[in-house]
Amino acid sequence: MRKSVLLTGLGTLLATCLSTAAVAEPVDEDLVIDGEIAIITKTAAPEGHPFDELLSGWLYRTPETRALEADSFQNPGMLAVELGEEIWNTVEGSEGKSCATCHGDASESMKGIGARFPKWDADSGRPINVELQINECRTERMGAEPYKFDKGGQKPLTAFIKHQSLGLPVSLDLSEGDMQSWWERGEEMYYRRTGQLNLSCASCHELNNGLYIRADHLSQGQANGFPTYRLKQAALVSLHNRFRGCIRDTRAEYPAAFSDDLMALEVYVTWRATGLSVETPAVRQ
Ligand code: HEC
Ligand code: HEC
Repeated sequence: MRKSVLLTGLGTLLATCLSTAAVAEPVDEDLVIDGEIAIITKTAAPEGHPFDELLSGWLYRTPETRALEADSFQNPGMLAVELGEEIWNTVEGSEGKSCATCHGDASESMKGIGARFPKWDADSGRPINVELQINECRTERMGAEPYKFDKGGQKPLTAFIKHQSLGLPVSLDLSEGDMQSWWERGEEMYYRRTGQLNLSCASCHELNNGLYIRADHLSQGQANGFPTYRLKQAALVSLHNRFRGCIRDTRAEYPAAFSDDLMALEVYVTWRATGLSVETPAVRQ
């Protein structure tokens, strides 16, 4: 009884949110961080993409939020990037090594790396993201414990590595290993309707893109700014956390972080941002 009332309530809430919502165009503005680093926030989609033009989530945000991302001194996510740099240089584990021991200056060794993840990992026979690569180096090469999801240095270090690719276009190599079949699995997930609200990712980010849902302007749901600083949470948010939040909003069970399902979704959703600049750490509502 209580459950069905709740269900109807949610369905109605969502229907009301979407149907009475105003449509607003994303802004037509350029993002140049610190007046120096030009960010590609609009680009022609790669072949086979459902959109003609890809748009960064930045274009959908308020002037205040956009201004925070345009100035790295004001971007609250930059504190996490600085923390990531400290971790990069800190010795940990039984081998007495830091990331810097092997990789040196991250501004050189990590430049462009974040724009190419997730990538095929022959050892584990699956795609890995930056978070899992960090864990691989920690366990295999430093004799340190892997970070648990969203814990320890995982978010700051991931943000620090991705930040070294700020401005560079997202570009995945789908020809490596089995990347193509993971892409297909991710695509299938993207369009599969789930949960009590029977929504897919595409229901919101493709079909209703541009509408307001509650106070939030629905974007294309691009992954190029992650980990992202969310003002609502006053914290850096990882991509798998965002995925889980969006799935939870459909009232579906959500898969574990780094599970095959979410890795496949990361491959596919990251590909959907091909050609947009890495914005890490982006600032969002
Ligand atoms: C003992 C040396 C060593 C240490 C310490 C080490 N790594 Fe690595 N790392 C490597 C090697 C070797 C590779 C290349 C492996 C490969 O190409 O498959 C690598 C690969 C990587 C890559 C992927 C680079 C690419 O081209 O795709 C990233 C990112 C990375 N490491 C981050 C880190 C971070 C962050 C730390 C610290 C937590 C760390 N590494 C610590 C040796 C190390
Ligand atoms: C009920 C509607 C809804 C559904 C379904 C939904 N999302 Fe979202 N999503 C949102 C809202 C609202 C936001 C925040 C505003 C925005 O950027 O669209 C968001 C944001 C995002 C972002 C961050 C965009 C940015 O620029 O920071 C990503 C990535 C994302 N969603 C991916 C997904 C994926 C993948 C799925 C399917 C598993 C999904 N979403 C399903 C509503 C939804």
